[in-house]
Amino acid sequence: MTAQKTVEVVPSLLAGDFSRLGEQLNLVKAAGCTWVSVDVMDGHFVPNLSFGPDFVRLAKKQGFYVDTHLMVTNPIDVAPWFAEAGSDIVTCHIEAVADPRAALKAIRALGVKAGLAVKPKTSVDGLINVLDVCDLALVMSVEPGFGGQKFMADMLPKVSALRAAIDAKHYDSWIQLDGGVNASNISQAAAAGADSLVAGSAVFGAKDVGLAFRDLESKARAAFSF
Ligand code: DX5
Repeated sequence: MTAQKTVEVVPSLLAGDFSRLGEQLNLVKAAGCTWVSVDVMDGHFVPNLSFGPDFVRLAKKQGFYVDTHLMVTNPIDVAPWFAEAGSDIVTCHIEAVADPRAALKAIRALGVKAGLAVKPKTSVDGLINVLDVCDLALVMSVEPGFGGQKFMADMLPKVSALRAAIDAKHYDSWIQLDGGVNASNISQAAAAGADSLVAGSAVFGAKDVGLAFRDLESKARAAFSF
C-alpha cells in the first residue's frame, strides 16, 4: 500500500504579473502554496520565449519548491543552468531527447529530481516505460507555448494510465497535469490521478490570487483518492 499522497496545486509563473511577481508569490505563499512552476521556452521547441534561470532564483529566494519545465530543443544542455539556479525538479520533453532514460539520468546526475513531459499528440507509453527513473511525469493538457489556453479533457486517460502504472509498481513519481487547469476541471484532473496540478491563469489571473489558490487546492484534495 503506497502512502497517502498529497495533491499539490502548482502556480505557473508564466501567468504572473511581471511588474509585481514578488508580491503575487507572497500572496500565494500566504495561502499555503509551497511549489511553483517555471516554464522555460526557447522560441524553437515552442513559438514563445519566456524565462532564464534568474526566475528560478527569485522563486527559491522566496522559499518555494520549484519545478522547471524545459520547453526547449536542447534540454540536456541547459538543464545544468537551472539546476545550479536551485530548481528542485527539472523536466524535459520526451519529444526533445533521443533517449528519455538517459536524459532522466543525466538530470538526476545534476543532483535534482528529473521529470519527463509529453505534448498532447504524444503517447504516454514512452513515459510509462521509464517511470523507474522518473520523479515527475508531466502530461500537457494544452499545446505547450502559452498560458490561458482551453483545457484538453481528452488528456485525462493519459493521467489514469500513469496512475495505474505508478501504483501497480509502487513508484512514488508525481503525475503533473499542465495547461488550462481551473476550478471547473481540477476535480476531474485529481480524480483521474494527477497529484501535481499546474495552474497559471486560474491563479494569477484571479482578483484574489490567494483565494483562487485555496479554492483550487481544496477542490483537488477533495477529489483525489489514490
Ligand atoms: C504552456 C504552459 C502553461 C502554463 C499554465 O506551455 O506550460 O500550461 O504553465 O498556464 P495556464 O494554467 O494558464 O494554462
